[in-house]
Amino acid sequence: MSSPHVLLLGAPGAGKGTQSKRIADRFGVDHITTGDALRNNKEMDISELGFEYDTPGGFMDAGELVPDEVVNEIVVTALGNADGFVLDGYPRNIEQAEFLDDRTALDAVVRLGVSDDKLIDRLTGRRVCPSCGVNYHVEFDQPEETGICDECGTDLEQREDDTEETVRERLRVFAENTEPVIEYYRDSDAYVEIDGEGSPDEVWEQVEAAIEARNP
Ligand code: AP5
Repeated sequence: MSSPHVLLLGAPGAGKGTQSKRIADRFGVDHITTGDALRNNKEMDISELGFEYDTPGGFMDAGELVPDEVVNEIVVTALGNADGFVLDGYPRNIEQAEFLDDRTALDAVVRLGVSDDKLIDRLTGRRVCPSCGVNYHVEFDQPEETGICDECGTDLEQREDDTEETVRERLRVFAENTEPVIEYYRDSDAYVEIDGEGSPDEVWEQVEAAIEARNP
């Protein structure tokens, strides 16, 4: 088995981050996530590009997409350093999908389907560790001690874009920009749709099998 090239598609809160970590561990591939890369560069000065906001953080806190120029650059650098990978949060529009197509082939394109009501519950209840990056949920995935990371003991935080108002805007942006990306991949042999509403373990069983089947 060679190192697989995996793309995970799904709305905000579909479980891309949760499943990507398992894919990276199981298949020994890099986890490339534009969301984390942008959160680490929220204050980067992009004023010379002349957009509505002068930093990636301005777009993110409003629930909007960060301009392609900024995001494509991050992905090119990450792909250049990776053998196999799981790509999470990219591409988010057709222009990004075409840009990716020109640079690499994909073995598995896994779409996680979850209803909007569940997505809102998952995101508004998500808590993240600012130190080691582990995700929890106030109801579905609680740490042993409330508000404290099991792994490193740091106080958990709520992401700034996980308020209900911004989550609804992110879902609207997803429907407008990223649903067409799903159509872009739907007819490819690499594409598989998985019900993302089960428990993380139930979803993982299907994700792992789908990648194994496409990367024998
Ligand atoms: P990004 O960080 O990519 O956010 P997102 O796509 O909105 O996805 P999330 O990380 O919110 O959700 P997830 O699917 O990973 O869910 P998770 O596994 O954590 O992007 C943030 C922003 O950056 C964007 O809004 C945009 O501004 C910008 N950006 C990023 N990429 C860009 C791009 N390519 N172009 C332009 N702009 C870009 O799960 C959520 C919660 O649910 C957790 O609490 C978890 O514990 C729980 N959970 C997970 N699975 C289950 C389950 N099976 N059952 C019950 N609970 C579960």
